[in-house]
Amino acid sequence: MPTKKWYVLLTALLALSMLFAACAAPVATPAPAAPAEQPTTAPAEQPTTAPAEQPSTAPAADELTGDLEIYSWWTAGGEADGLNAMYELFKAQHPQVNIVNATVAGGAGSNAKAVLTTRMQANDPPDSFQVHAGHELIDTWVVADKMEPVTFLFEENGWMDVFPPGVIDVLSYNGDIWSVPVNIHRSNVLWYNSAIFEQNGLTAPTTMEEFFAAAETLQAAGVTPLALGDNGIWTATHLMESVLLAALGPEGYRGLWTGATDWNSAEVTTALENFAKMMAYVNEDHAALSWDQAAQLVADGDAAMTIMGDWAQGYFTSIGLTVDKDYGWAPSPGTGGTFMMLSDSFGLPKGAPHRDNAIAWLTLAGSREGQDAFNPPKGSIPARTDGDRSLYDAYLQAAMDDFSSNEITPSLAHGAAASEGWVTAFNDVMTLFVTDLDVATAQAAMAKACVNAGVCK
Ligand code: GAL
Repeated sequence: MPTKKWYVLLTALLALSMLFAACAAPVATPAPAAPAEQPTTAPAEQPTTAPAEQPSTAPAADELTGDLEIYSWWTAGGEADGLNAMYELFKAQHPQVNIVNATVAGGAGSNAKAVLTTRMQANDPPDSFQVHAGHELIDTWVVADKMEPVTFLFEENGWMDVFPPGVIDVLSYNGDIWSVPVNIHRSNVLWYNSAIFEQNGLTAPTTMEEFFAAAETLQAAGVTPLALGDNGIWTATHLMESVLLAALGPEGYRGLWTGATDWNSAEVTTALENFAKMMAYVNEDHAALSWDQAAQLVADGDAAMTIMGDWAQGYFTSIGLTVDKDYGWAPSPGTGGTFMMLSDSFGLPKGAPHRDNAIAWLTLAGSREGQDAFNPPKGSIPARTDGDRSLYDAYLQAAMDDFSSNEITPSLAHGAAASEGWVTAFNDVMTLFVTDLDVATAQAAMAKACVNAGVCK
């Protein structure tokens, strides 16, 4: 499991994260993120509520009753399955509690976060909500004084010894821990359709040059090389972070979020040029599709590749595909040896209406049993170091190995690298860039976003 090297790297990330948190002007209330995409399922202005669960057997000794509202954006195949697996365990443990599954569809929380902000500002929090570890948790909610610390859960359950110190660090602020991490996801993954690759004599591209060569071959053969679904602009940001990592390397990429790397550098220009070039190989209807619909194009053989976080692994599994048979994977081109990470966690908002139930939920979320139920269908690895490896498929076992041996970099698109405001500004740059592909304008706007975030001069 995670090596010392990893601890050191993630601890360094924490130091940066804390530095940002310390430098950023405290926000009294979180700035609402503009919902930039359409929900991928039925429009969900309001959280959808699952039907009440009635225990069919006699109540157990467990004393908890009432509702437990869990708020997330996990509605797609894989991610919803992981959540349900934890709900099943919770119901077995607390049969008299009624779980309210409050979801707002839209990957990466593109719609959910805005609705959550409205609720939190109106002092109407759910009992617990999904939040990315790092800046999203600390800058948006903790600094704004909207959360209760959960340090006591780590102490009471012996979690200080089972979560890597680096992970605990990115959940910490002012001497307390502020949420319970359920997983580690990898963002820099290229997924490909095995049959298409075989038919075209291709192997997974390891560099940008190999990627473009493969894309040419595929296009000549009449196959859409790269699937993108950016009806939520976060997927373009997601692709861009991998392309930036390829051009800058892990150290240069990390420096983008600390001010150590110049946004006006030639490497950033290269990344933007590569991104613009990639768009020539993308499905024409990319602006109408969601991330999972793009993954479905690859599954159906309507496109050869997609670059997406490993929730795509959960999605492929949910539609009955098998890794290394129906589809293959590799680090996104040019990023081998680096694990671009993010972590989903659950927190305890101040004023949670059913606080005891929320604590029971968080206790399950942090448990080995909870994580080993959630992560195999979710397509992520446990945040704990003692997960049962035999429950995880070949991809996830490889992810565990890479997480413990690779360089670690923080994901921008998923709340680990930069403050919510900076992510929103970056998304706005990408909204224009995917359309006009104007490298100079995009680079200047990205440089400005760093200045506006208070990180660059
Ligand atoms: C990420 C989140 C993942 C997955 C993905 C797509 O932000 O961390 O767990 O949900 O969005 O929805």
